[in-house]
This record gives sequence, C-alpha cells and structure tokens, in this order.
Amino acid sequence: MHQKVFIVGFMGSGKTTLARQISDELSMPFYDTDQMIEKATGMNIQDIFSTWGEKYFRRMERDVLYGLLHRQESFICSTGGGSVCQPDIMDWLNRVGQTIWLDTPWEIIQNRLSFDTTRPLAQLSEIDLKLLWADRKKFYQKASARIENESEWITLIQ
Ligand code: S3P
Repeated sequence: MHQKVFIVGFMGSGKTTLARQISDELSMPFYDTDQMIEKATGMNIQDIFSTWGEKYFRRMERDVLYGLLHRQESFICSTGGGSVCQPDIMDWLNRVGQTIWLDTPWEIIQNRLSFDTTRPLAQLSEIDLKLLWADRKKFYQKASARIENESEWITLIQ
C-alpha cells in the first residue's frame, strides 16, 4: 500500500523544510506544490499572481494536488498554504493519505513573514494576514494529525 503524506499549514510554518527532512530520513520522494507549479509554468509564484491572478493560481494548485492523488507511489508533499483552503481538498487528501498540520505558533510565522518579499500574500498588512491565518484554521483542522514543531513528526509516520 502506498503511503501519501501531505504537510499542510499556513505560509511560513516550515512545511517545505519538514517535508524535505522526512523525505531524506525515510527515503521517500518529495513534492512541493509551489515548485511543481513553477516548473509547469516556467514562472515564479509572484509572476503567476501578477500576470494571471490568484484565481488562476488556485486552479493550478487544485490540478496539481488532484494529479498527486492518483500517483502510484509513496511520497511526502509540502502543500502551498492556500492550496487546501478550497472546498473538498482536505477531504480528498484525507481519503488517499495522511495529512499533517504543522501548526507553528503565530508569533514565529509573523516574524518569518515580516522579512518575506517573495510570497504575494505575505505582503498583506499585519491585521489582514492574521485574519487570513485565523480564517484558514478551519481547513487545516481537518488534518488527520497536528504537530506544533518539526521534531514531532517521527511519532506519526513510520
Ligand atoms: C500561499 C502560500 C505559498 C504560495 C503562495 C500562496 C498562500 O506557499 O503557494 O504564495 O496562499 O498561503 P507556502 O505556504 O509554501 O509559503
């Protein structure tokens, strides 16, 4: 049986770092939805947002995740922070694999994002960013497991 693991959570929570670490330690293929979209379009996320808009980007995220559901292999995937905040997506992922919400404390996320110049939505005002973070919890809470820091994953995946 293939093991598909999806790391979900807000931008700046450390999903990609965690997914890479798990991938290295368990020798599982690693995927990152943002990287897959950048590769497919030949553009970076900022340019996709500014050229085609957020709606188009969300559709691409949905397509990329849908493609991953059907892969006949085990893997670990870091999902873009907003990719699972669309109707049904968390349900899809939970049906085929394991979802882990990396629930990094807000203060850490806020600090990391305050230095960020590459993520379009990290440029929101502090108030709007926190509202987005609070609003997205309802999606992340659907994850099959929740961890607060990277070292906790080991008890969940083996
Ligand atoms: C986004 C998160 C980013 C990236 C894009 C939009 C979001 O991914 O997909 O900038 O809406 O939260 P990370 O969560 O990997 O930063």
